[in-house]
Amino acid sequence: MDFDTLDIARLRGLAGNKWRRYGDEVLPAWVADMDFLQAAPIRDYVSHAGATGDLGYPFGESAGPLKELFAERAMRRYGWSVDTEHVDLIIDVVQGLYLGLDIYCEPGGGAIIPTPIYPYFLTAAEENGRRAIANPLVLDGTRFVYDMDALEASIDDTTQVLMVCNPHNPTGRVFERKELEALAEVALRHDLTVIADEIFADVVYEGHQYIPFATLSPEIAARTVTFHSATKAFNLGGIRIAVAVFGSDALHDRFKNVPRRSLGGHNCLGIPLTRIAWQQCDDWLAGVVSYLQGNRDFVTEFLARRMPAVGYVAPEATFFAWMDCRELDLPGGPYEYFLEHAKVGLSDGVPFGEAGKGFARVNFATPRKLLEQILERMADSIEKNE
Ligand SMILES: Cc1ncc(COP(=O)(O)O)c(C=O)c1O
Repeated sequence: MDFDTLDIARLRGLAGNKWRRYGDEVLPAWVADMDFLQAAPIRDYVSHAGATGDLGYPFGESAGPLKELFAERAMRRYGWSVDTEHVDLIIDVVQGLYLGLDIYCEPGGGAIIPTPIYPYFLTAAEENGRRAIANPLVLDGTRFVYDMDALEASIDDTTQVLMVCNPHNPTGRVFERKELEALAEVALRHDLTVIADEIFADVVYEGHQYIPFATLSPEIAARTVTFHSATKAFNLGGIRIAVAVFGSDALHDRFKNVPRRSLGGHNCLGIPLTRIAWQQCDDWLAGVVSYLQGNRDFVTEFLARRMPAVGYVAPEATFFAWMDCRELDLPGGPYEYFLEHAKVGLSDGVPFGEAGKGFARVNFATPRKLLEQILERMADSIEKNE
């Protein structure tokens, strides 16, 4: 497991969106792919499938064992008892967010969304004709937390869904039990369905613990739909597969009403690679999380030293640094500014909701040498603006 070697020619040769979008002058640090090679068993399987021409329609029944594997892993890693009868495989988590709002929220109904937020939460509401009720997280001095009074005040008769993102993208928060319990209490009192995106469950740093929302109580489980995937933790964003866990027959039955083929079908790599990731790659996962934690600390130290005007709270999970650049007052906003003047491609804070204006998100899942170049370019460009 070597996460530290920088092979820029390999990265520049990749066909994926991350390295293709901006061309050769720019260092990309945006979409949530890592710049590391995947674990060897995963790469071996892909080579094998290619070498044997095993790229036909997948054998559907292989999905069954994957559900069991998910349930076994959920118990082992998170103490979460999952009924495999309540698990479905979908194409990706974003599909789950879109379907979830379509199914569990009536047209015109409201969904509470903690902002800033991974942009598809907001578009899922807007494009489905549901109301996105932004609940901005607030900085309590050391970390982003829910404003429970504001959340409560934003609820009306049309509010039907509470959307949860834990670990949270982009702030990197891993919400603690008492924070989740406060949300759960509101969901119960207002009869809200909970849609929980927990895709970053396995990228959590020392001192923090991911708690599946559905484990808070049986009553909460019964109103929660959770989305998971191996794709973030094992760097498999292109394989297009995710897991949906329904906390009750009632929730699952409503999902089953969606015509099967309108959900799409899995590609031939998604199921086997997820199985291999979960069965054979936990050592790789531990290694990458440890390396990412080192990168997180590197960012923290670098910003304090070279970019002190950037507001920043070290993430507890994910591989994102959420940078508050408002004080820098960069012409065109941080995204445009850093792209043009630093030749660094970040994620613009604006699509993350009102609360993201003046922010940029840096993906630090890259060899440290490259991370350093990215940050150096940013720091130099800020000095030029002063
Ligand atoms: C919070 C969150 N949810 C969902 C996704 C996308 O997942 P998928 O590719 O399964 O749609 C991402 C990708 O970065 C994410 O950060």
